[in-house]
Amino acid sequence: MSKKEIKNFYKNKIKLISELNNSYYNNSNPKVSDQEYDNLKTEIINLEKKYDFLKSINSPSKTVGSKPSKNFKKDLHRAPMLSLANAFTEDDLINFEKKILNFLSKDKDYKISYSAEPKIDGISASLTYKNGKFERGLSRGDGREGEDITLNLATIKDIPKKILDKDFPKDIDIRGEVFIQNSNFEDLNEKFANPRNAASGSLRQKNPEETKKIPLKFIAYTFGYEKGLVANNQFDFLKKLSEWGFKTNPLNKLITGIKSLMENYNEIEKKRANLDFDIDGIVYKVNDFAMQRRLGNVANAPRWAIAHKFSSNKAVSKILDIEIQIGRTGALTPVAKIKPINIGGVIVSNATLHNEDEINRKDIRIGDTAVIERAGDVIPHILSVDKQKRSKNSKKFIFPKNCPSCGSETIKEFNKVTKKVDAVRRCSSEGYYCDKISIEKLKHFVSKEAFNIDGFGKKIVENFWKLNLIKYPQDIFNLDFSKIENLDGWGKLSVQNLKYSINQKKNISLEKFIFSLGIRHIGLENAKLLSKHFVSFSKFKNLSKQIDYEDMLNIDGIGETQVSSIKSFFSNETNKKVLNELKKVLVIKDAAHNLDDGLLNNKTFLVTGKLNGISRAEVKSLIEEHSGKTISSVSKKLNFLIIGEKPTKKKVDYAKELKIKVINQAEFLKMLNKTS
Ligand code: IVH
Repeated sequence: MSKKEIKNFYKNKIKLISELNNSYYNNSNPKVSDQEYDNLKTEIINLEKKYDFLKSINSPSKTVGSKPSKNFKKDLHRAPMLSLANAFTEDDLINFEKKILNFLSKDKDYKISYSAEPKIDGISASLTYKNGKFERGLSRGDGREGEDITLNLATIKDIPKKILDKDFPKDIDIRGEVFIQNSNFEDLNEKFANPRNAASGSLRQKNPEETKKIPLKFIAYTFGYEKGLVANNQFDFLKKLSEWGFKTNPLNKLITGIKSLMENYNEIEKKRANLDFDIDGIVYKVNDFAMQRRLGNVANAPRWAIAHKFSSNKAVSKILDIEIQIGRTGALTPVAKIKPINIGGVIVSNATLHNEDEINRKDIRIGDTAVIERAGDVIPHILSVDKQKRSKNSKKFIFPKNCPSCGSETIKEFNKVTKKVDAVRRCSSEGYYCDKISIEKLKHFVSKEAFNIDGFGKKIVENFWKLNLIKYPQDIFNLDFSKIENLDGWGKLSVQNLKYSINQKKNISLEKFIFSLGIRHIGLENAKLLSKHFVSFSKFKNLSKQIDYEDMLNIDGIGETQVSSIKSFFSNETNKKVLNELKKVLVIKDAAHNLDDGLLNNKTFLVTGKLNGISRAEVKSLIEEHSGKTISSVSKKLNFLIIGEKPTKKKVDYAKELKIKVINQAEFLKMLNKTS
């Protein structure tokens, strides 16, 4: 090799290790095994030893400490760590408040106070204190289970180790954000692309001495599990936090009204560039705890909070190519490969083009100079292209009419609800016919929110697929580990770990199982509804009769779209075979009959007319909390018709005819031992 070739060879290796670091630190998504990573590191260091002209700031020889280990002990959060829904515009905020007022059945002039807290862009952590002593600290992980990083967190000065105040709860999880100040980050001069990566990377060092070298800060903002907390609202709680010795955000404010939220937002956005820590928005929380409790959660985010994101960062770069990616549900998504560019501290080389219509509308072509926008953690996208800079020979981009993976025809569906043709073009194949769709289905199957198989990342799915080790979900549970042991980058230990992770996940709830199948339109929330409806795997699997499908429409939240998607899933023989094969290797737990005392166990309800001081949505969640069900029409299946003001006469008459109990709001609340 010539000197130039060696330099290039080396540069490629550095590029690869930087990408691996980025996906590891930034996205917590290790793309290769530890061994593969270590081999690459050794290779780079050896090259540097052999050729003294090779140098790079991104070389592993220049970085502090070692690659953080993946092998932290995992532990369950005592209360899940939720995420937040996003708002971008004033309208989003108006909508957010409207939904809250509706849910609580308050009139539209009702004033809600919010705790407005600048959202620090760091890494969240949950700290358990028992009798005032800091005992354990977990990372967020998947929200349900985190990594035990107690020793690393203990190196952070802002985290009190002992709290003696009398009013500090006996047992509580204090939650907040670990981050690094920008000024400290600049002094660090290390391998990290931005302060957030630095915080994430140093928190996950195996050796706490390495963590200690990085000046990490901690700001507290909420709690998880608690026993003995005396506070009625978030703002008082924040005050208490600082009395107990925690740092809280000095820019937190108590605000009423959307107009004032917007003023505060604009003010803070102006200050943003001069702050010594990165913020990417403002979190608004309904201040009153009693209201928060009534509002509860949807899927994995509270109804009572939202993150108001700041506008994005933009940059100009060139579109090198347009690729078509095929998603799990067959959607063909065009992606622009752009000349890599730094946008707000992150190197961007891909930008989504959304769909065919978007390309046509903006007339986006290969070779164009484009404005690319990156907002928070969403995928960067193309805002516009500069037509003046376009070369004369540039041609319009032609969207493929056949699936680039399996050749099937692609279609744009007609949406019955919006009465419009879908903007998204899809591969029309079903089941596991299309390779790309199958791979995406498998990635979904093992992903965090589905089977959550540790160490079974996207790259491994792709690799095993190529090697014919997995083609269908059941293959994951019938892997030939002796073959894997001989693969590049694998060894006895890593295979043992993989085997262990897979075996651990053979027990699964019906809800997670249904979600894992990746049926279109069946996300977490719908999977939960279906699992409650079917209760057992066998009932779900034997779904076939028209009547079963019609019955599903009675589930509040499930509509025609979902039912027809489930129908088409079950009309495919491969899907049925997958279900049968999975049943052989898994233990699928029946849906638990609802928690608590089940006061309304097996009872069905329907509301007609306007209720007083309580919304339909809240009634529904109360019913479900007590193991009851709501259905959408009067039928023999109905046990109670709850009537409010101006009920629908037809419903009441029909209910009486069927001898269904008709009750009023007070009688309903009495059933729950509630009075108002
Ligand atoms: S409250 C129950 N408060 O934002 C709501 N989160 O997307 C969730 N964050 O993982 C937590 N500042 O890392 C809350 N003042 C604040 C926050 C905050 C930053 C982060 C946190 C969380 C993410 C939610």
